[in-house]
Amino acid sequence: MECPSGLRSLSLLFLAGTAASSSVLRHRDPLPAGFVNAPYYPTPYGGWADDWSESYGKAVDLVSQMTLAEKVNITAGRCVGNTGSIPRLGFPSLCLQDGPLGVRTTDNITAFPAGITTGATFNKELIYERGVAMGEEFRGKGANFYLGPSVGALGRKPRGGRNWEGFGSDPVLQGIAGSQTIKGVQEQGVIATLKHLIGNEQELYRMYQLNVQQAYSSNIDDRTLHELYLWPFAEGVHAGVGSVMASYNAINGSAASQNSYIINGLLKDELGFQGMIMTDWLAQISGVASALAGLDMSMPGDTVGNNIPLDGYSNWMYELTRSVLNGSVPVDRLNDMATRVVATWYQLGQDKDYPPPNFSSNTADRTGPLYPGALFSPSGVVNEYVNVQADHKVVAKQVAQEAITLLKNNGSFLPLSTSSPLSVFGTDAQADPQGINSCTDKSCNRGLLGMGWGSGSANYPYLDDPISSLKRKVTNVTYYATDSFSTVPAPTSDDVAIVFVSSDSGENSYTVENNHGDRDADGLALWHGGDALIQKAAATYSNVVVVIHTVGPVTMESWIDLPSVKAVLVAHLPGQEAGDSLTEILYGDASPSGHLPYSIPVSEDDYPASVSLVATPTLSQIQDTYTEGLYVDYRHLNKAGIKPRFAFGHGLSYASFSFSNASITAATPLSAVPPARPAKPASPVAGLNATIPAAAEAYWPDNFDRIWRYLYSWLSTSEADAAYKIGVAGTQTYPYPDGYSSVQRAEGPPAGGPSGGNPALWDVAFTVSITVTNDASAKLGGKAVAQAYVQFPSDAGVDTPVIQLRDFAKTGDVVAPGESATLELTLTRKDLSVWDTVTQNWVVPAPDGRYSVWVGSASDDTPVVCYTDTLVCESGVTGPV
Ligand SMILES: *[C@@H]1O[C@H](CO)[C@@H](O)[C@H](O)[C@H]1NC(C)=O
Ligand SMILES: *[C@@H]1O[C@H](CO)[C@@H](O)[C@H](O)[C@H]1NC(C)=O
Ligand SMILES: *[C@@H]1O[C@H](CO)[C@@H](O)[C@H](O)[C@H]1NC(C)=O
Ligand SMILES: *[C@@H]1O[C@H](CO)[C@@H](O)[C@H](O)[C@H]1NC(C)=O
Ligand SMILES: *[C@@H]1O[C@H](CO)[C@@H](O)[C@H](O)[C@H]1NC(C)=O
Ligand SMILES: *[C@@H]1O[C@H](CO)[C@@H](O)[C@H](O)[C@H]1NC(C)=O
Ligand SMILES: *[C@@H]1O[C@H](CO)[C@@H](O)[C@H](O)[C@H]1NC(C)=O
Ligand SMILES: *[C@@H]1O[C@H](CO)[C@@H](O)[C@H](O)[C@H]1NC(C)=O
Ligand SMILES: *[C@@H]1O[C@H](CO)[C@@H](O)[C@H](O)[C@H]1NC(C)=O
Repeated sequence: MECPSGLRSLSLLFLAGTAASSSVLRHRDPLPAGFVNAPYYPTPYGGWADDWSESYGKAVDLVSQMTLAEKVNITAGRCVGNTGSIPRLGFPSLCLQDGPLGVRTTDNITAFPAGITTGATFNKELIYERGVAMGEEFRGKGANFYLGPSVGALGRKPRGGRNWEGFGSDPVLQGIAGSQTIKGVQEQGVIATLKHLIGNEQELYRMYQLNVQQAYSSNIDDRTLHELYLWPFAEGVHAGVGSVMASYNAINGSAASQNSYIINGLLKDELGFQGMIMTDWLAQISGVASALAGLDMSMPGDTVGNNIPLDGYSNWMYELTRSVLNGSVPVDRLNDMATRVVATWYQLGQDKDYPPPNFSSNTADRTGPLYPGALFSPSGVVNEYVNVQADHKVVAKQVAQEAITLLKNNGSFLPLSTSSPLSVFGTDAQADPQGINSCTDKSCNRGLLGMGWGSGSANYPYLDDPISSLKRKVTNVTYYATDSFSTVPAPTSDDVAIVFVSSDSGENSYTVENNHGDRDADGLALWHGGDALIQKAAATYSNVVVVIHTVGPVTMESWIDLPSVKAVLVAHLPGQEAGDSLTEILYGDASPSGHLPYSIPVSEDDYPASVSLVATPTLSQIQDTYTEGLYVDYRHLNKAGIKPRFAFGHGLSYASFSFSNASITAATPLSAVPPARPAKPASPVAGLNATIPAAAEAYWPDNFDRIWRYLYSWLSTSEADAAYKIGVAGTQTYPYPDGYSSVQRAEGPPAGGPSGGNPALWDVAFTVSITVTNDASAKLGGKAVAQAYVQFPSDAGVDTPVIQLRDFAKTGDVVAPGESATLELTLTRKDLSVWDTVTQNWVVPAPDGRYSVWVGSASDDTPVVCYTDTLVCESGVTGPV
């Protein structure tokens, strides 16, 4: 999302064009052959999952007391990310706040490491702890919603601008990390918002902009959607996420914010989602159609549907009230929308002592406009500077450190000795000299790259930069604060050069050094001449250590094999704790334990052409067709037999780990088709009054002090009466989409169930236990990661990737030389299934067949295999890739 204050929508709106009427259906270009836009109606009511029933009971009770205007009031915001309130019933305005790595646009917070960094730790417990700390900070600032985590973009496109907000280019890594984050955040009573549903894999042309440009269409086949892109959303719903955000783009030609198949069908029926779904900011393009397709909240409430920015125009609010009175939006749909919002608030316990917001996204001053969206507003205290940091820098540093991924360490060059003189190169080693928060939303790559740019960024409270940290550690440090190689005194063989380089990306709301969010200008090359800087350093020094701060894969062929390039560390996007987290690794106070959350290719040409950016601006809709199917990142490279430079999951340690003593245990017996889903209970929402209410419920109250340009849910008496007349007459009908129905389906889809889908999908089928030992001769201890990849039986009769990550585990403690630790990995029924497009269910293609479970420290280093048919494990084997 973007623009917390709504004010930034100005820049979007001045793009010109003619006014789009919210009721006009946009023309759509034909989809590529084979893609259909299937209707799915009506929106299934929420409230049929056991673990939400108490919250729905309370919510239905509250909603039953609401007027029409009150129900509508809580389904959209008014200029900022704040919903309307219901003063009469004591229901507060809810505050929605970015972003995935910390509370955005405020102070006295922690700037945590980014999602991609978090994924690289492969440490489930630590990911959860980061979530706990972020949840405490959002709550402390009084934000009801944490607008994260991001699990879409999944990372299909290596150049995609926002991949770094998520956890890596694999659905299981995204799913586990997303769920751990959700649990940590929501245990603090904060509503997490899983985003962006779905197919939001590039930034360029992501938005509908008036009638000038349509958002691109991500054309995704059913199986690929289920096995890759929807997977982490299913895991997040299973973890109990309260809210979901729809993406800007279209899927199969239909905008994500009004795609009935995605929202009604997949999210609310198949995944049994009980919470509420909102738009991304300004993404709503219709009123009635989006309500029917299952949207529950429009954010920030105003839209780009009018030419004049922020003039109080909305597709919902007073228009939604009108649509209910005139019968176009059935009352039960509005009841369901309001109940979903209120039930989510109860589910997270926000009815009990939840603090109101004590910060402003709009200004850093203590006082400011109370209604920042209005041109004229009374002033008051808007910032209380509540310090929410507690000791969160400890977990932030731990994540930054455990993410650091050692790619190369020739001759065990690292760790360094403090007696070696250091020469440090590259502006990325130091904090931005113009100020650590000098670029709005980090929309520049100047100085250390600690996070990407856009709404996924946060202000630094301070920045521990690497050069300061190195100077604290080592006495003889010379820093060359430039990205072009300097003339240096002739080094001795003892001298060490550390070269800092970076690659940045972000949200399409800003262009940075010609990169429009995505890395469209720089591609996978290092920025600021980083390759040349490394080459020149390597020509002068015999000992070069490269440190890379990056949003994703970068190519390294021009220097990786140079003999003087002794060691390479990817420090990802470390956030505020960039310095000591790194120094301690460089000097051996801690051993690196990060692993790559994506592959690093030899060349960008190694990827399928279909994952390139679709970059041709056209007046029609750009078609982005996922012809590579399941074959992204390592799934593609393995299938095509292309060796990457560094494989997905790769990451070295100073310890010397070996795996042994593996065993596999069968738990739940498998059948081809899972046990039938539980019956779908009736929803209490069905008990709410679904008759068109009296027009008087929508009348403006007398003498209301209206704030100019704010959105309200009331209508004038004459407008309300006119709409009501149409509604009760029932003669003028809305042009409902093909396939529309208002009758609730009695049965859900076979794969469906409460909170994520058929619960049997999460039955544990097998557990694998493995012992990891640090060799007694190792000089140092470290934390070890085991990754489990499944290979489907060769006679399964269905095309599957060679191997797919299904679980991972990291040792809780450092394993000292000569010591061992045991790790456990689990495989669920879903992990061993494929999505069957005919039966629309998860099917185990060969229940008694030989699934090979490959275990190791990287996707190309799996020296242990366990077989599900014989329950035998072998060690010292060569993996399949
Ligand atoms: C898109 O089209 C494909 C191919 O017909 C279909 O399998 C898939 O379910 C469609 N997705 C949506 C969201 O309509
Ligand atoms: C809607 O919310 C606004 C802002 O909180 C409030 O002023 C107004 O009274 C609410 N309207 C209704 C119908 O409760
Ligand atoms: C701001 O948050 C703090 C801590 O949660 C709380 O004590 C305070 O009352 C809040 N301020 C306002 C105006 O709600
Ligand atoms: C009801 O109102 C909505 C919102 O203004 C409008 O889009 C729709 O066409 C109206 N329906 C009828 C039948 O007039
Ligand atoms: C943090 O809050 C204090 C007041 O508690 C304030 O003086 C300080 O300026 C705030 N920090 C920043 C970076 O704004
Ligand atoms: C620092 O290292 C440089 C390069 O090796 C060397 O020339 C210089 O004498 C050293 N300075 C000190 C104070 O040790
Ligand atoms: C590793 O270092 C040795 C010398 O210690 C050198 O011969 C070899 O080329 C280096 N290998 C790489 C890949 O840099
Ligand atoms: C072998 O693994 C089991 C768990 O399956 C564990 O209890 C045992 O300690 C391990 N043995 C060794 C020698 O590490
Ligand atoms: C349902 O609402 C309609 C319209 O407001 C009202 O006339 C009717 O009495 C209500 N029914 C019940 C059972 O409350």
